[in-house]
Amino acid sequence: MRPEKIKEIREQIEYEYKRSSYPEGFPQIPDLSGRRYTNEEFFNLEFKNIFLKSWIMVFREDELPNPGDFRIFNKLQRDILIVRQKDQSIKAFYNTCSHRGAPVVRENEGNTKLLKCQYHSWSYDLDGSLIRVPDERDFLNLDLSCKGLKEVYCDMWDGWVYISLSDDDPGNLREYLDPVASEMECFKSSELVTIWKNSADVKANWKTCLDAFMEVYHSPTIHKDTVNILLDGNGMAAGLLKNGHSRMVTPKRINLDGGMLGAEGQDFVPYIETCDSIHAETNVAYAIFPNFITPTDTSGYVAILFWPKSLRETEIEYIQLGPKWEEKEKPQYWVDQEVSFHSIMEEDFKNLEPMQRSHDSGVFNKMPLNYQERRIYYYHQTVDDWVGRENINNEMVAEDILSPFVEK
Ligand code: FES
Ligand SMILES: [Fe+2]
Repeated sequence: MRPEKIKEIREQIEYEYKRSSYPEGFPQIPDLSGRRYTNEEFFNLEFKNIFLKSWIMVFREDELPNPGDFRIFNKLQRDILIVRQKDQSIKAFYNTCSHRGAPVVRENEGNTKLLKCQYHSWSYDLDGSLIRVPDERDFLNLDLSCKGLKEVYCDMWDGWVYISLSDDDPGNLREYLDPVASEMECFKSSELVTIWKNSADVKANWKTCLDAFMEVYHSPTIHKDTVNILLDGNGMAAGLLKNGHSRMVTPKRINLDGGMLGAEGQDFVPYIETCDSIHAETNVAYAIFPNFITPTDTSGYVAILFWPKSLRETEIEYIQLGPKWEEKEKPQYWVDQEVSFHSIMEEDFKNLEPMQRSHDSGVFNKMPLNYQERRIYYYHQTVDDWVGRENINNEMVAEDILSPFVEK
């Protein structure tokens, strides 16, 4: 992170500790409509206009180490075939044969020299071009060069594979991710390894889930014996960043040399030397629009991804990254950290499903948000930027109120 930005954040933390009233000059945040969490039509608009258009992080690049390695990404209600190319680049396609639409690849992952459809053996090169059609003489005017697999926008950032299902060019990925990408450069994420992964299906709207990771206002209650021991929400400094992304910096009460909950009393805590000290002393968490949250630490970071399965169901996938280690055994720190991180997630999950039932009661009309919850409003207003306010019932719209407060 740039030294001026670190200085600015430290000053903001000081200000937050001293503040005794609502910040002067900051507008009242409008109430959000409760129907944003319960309305099927709105969910369909979000899915179509955000998840089927924006850049979406799918998995780690090292899941496809060799040319010909492929994986199916199926978390957006269609199968996307992602393939490592001979030149080490990565391409993505709909897993749909150009003949009669059978899936080209039937396994979820593997390695192949040729993408051969198992219905009538139309064969595609790794780059998606159609190269062989059995009994080609029986087709009239079949132009193989026009019958390649439908390609999907695909790019990489710091060890992560991203796709966009947009028909139109989604723009440069790195520019889309900045300034988060620049601020996270110190983690040298492409050199990190996956320590553990986990996922859970939660019966709640994706925004009900995501909202819960956008503030620490709930820590003294939901995470009384976990997060609240580690972090001090009174000094939390939130930053609104361009494109709906945001940052939340929360001072630590313990583990000031780095390490998440579970680092206490450990002989060895991994440390990424290139991180700034602010990453050890505080919890810097980013939200990358639309569905990625990451609490970071000098030991590594957890990528938390929210996949809407339906209006009232979300898959929450969480992946811990950290530096490689020399010894054969996984460091004890990671064994303990996995247990403690999972228990924190369970505390949130237990809260979310009852929340959805309550939202569905029919009386939850308006949601007032406070100053420290402003990141929630900001990403909701970004949702509406993507969906188009003209497509949303007036009563449910989140007007653009916070753009003037986005960091330059
Ligand atoms: S559907 Fe794929 S070869 Fe016929
Ligand atoms: Fe939480």
